[in-house]
Amino acid sequence: MNRATRVLVTGAAGQVGVDFVDVLEGVIPPGGDRSFQPDKRSVPGGEFEVLALTRHELDVADPDAVRRAVQAARPDVIVHLAAYTAVDRAETEESTCFAVNAAGTESMSRAAKESGAHLIAISTDYVFDGNKGGAYVEDDVTNPLNVYGASKRAGELLCSSDDTVVRTSWVMGVRGKNVAHVIAERALSGQSVRFVNDQTGTVTVASDLARVLATMVRERPGGLWHVANTGTTTWFDVARYIGEILGRDDDFATAIATADLEPAPLATRPIRSDLSIDRFTSRWSATPGWRDGITRLIRDRGSRGGVR
Ligand SMILES: NC(=O)c1ccc[n+]([C@@H]2O[C@H](COP(=O)([O-])OP(=O)(O)OC[C@H]3O[C@@H](n4cnc5c(N)ncnc54)[C@H](OP(=O)(O)O)[C@@H]3O)[C@@H](O)[C@H]2O)c1
Repeated sequence: MNRATRVLVTGAAGQVGVDFVDVLEGVIPPGGDRSFQPDKRSVPGGEFEVLALTRHELDVADPDAVRRAVQAARPDVIVHLAAYTAVDRAETEESTCFAVNAAGTESMSRAAKESGAHLIAISTDYVFDGNKGGAYVEDDVTNPLNVYGASKRAGELLCSSDDTVVRTSWVMGVRGKNVAHVIAERALSGQSVRFVNDQTGTVTVASDLARVLATMVRERPGGLWHVANTGTTTWFDVARYIGEILGRDDDFATAIATADLEPAPLATRPIRSDLSIDRFTSRWSATPGWRDGITRLIRDRGSRGGVR
């Protein structure tokens, strides 16, 4: 019998991390789609041996700790999900943000190479400035508008050419703090919401990304990949759709312009940063549509655990 693939996961308590660990252990995370697995092979429990590290167990900004953790774990694959993700706070905490997202990713890449493991690192649509006027493909020129985006781009550049880098966007998990939960709470408590309709992007439901990452652990493709749910949207459309699922009328969500946000966010966001997933779908299958993903997320909102 083949031995289990050893997978070291950083940031394992984050919203992608908890779903990814479930998937690797053969569990369907809350909000998960039983039928979606890009390589069309289900993930049985026992295929992977998971070494899940939270921030308390490994500070990725500490290069010595990273080297020691990787040497001790002897992984076949490292999936590096740990990141400084507070986009607005990053504007005033630049050095911390870069220590985690840039230097931390460099340490992971080095440690992976030294131990013969394959690294899969996660990046963001915020590496782009949004001025292209269409969906971004992997080879498009980057030009981050904010500190977080710049730190993630620096992390990409500090990876080795053997590593896999997955750019994703607008991530929402059942067990994460994210906009979908804020919208749902307002919808259920009879309040209304105002959301921008001039920022276009691609939603990524964490459990669907987790399934993609499990396939990538199997196949170790290397290079840059864009991954999101299928279909482009705006925050206003996301809010309106969640309101619709929860039985609210058209007056639940009001569309506003980014320029009218008060107070203005500290970090500038790209106006149009949707990711083209054509490269991904030409190798594997299409990801579920964003409405389908959000429907599952809202359906399972109250759930903390997955099912086998
Ligand atoms: N969320 C999005 O919309 C989005 C969009 C594009 C790309 N991404 C990328 O997707 C990946 C997963 O993000 P996510 O949504 O799961 O974010 P998340 O929920 O914020 O999870 C990130 C995890 O990293 C941990 N972490 C922070 N600093 C660390 C450090 N120095 N050492 C070790 N762990 C540390 C965090 O711990 P604490 O909670 O204790 O700080 C958290 O558990 C990240 O690479 C992120 O940049 C996210």
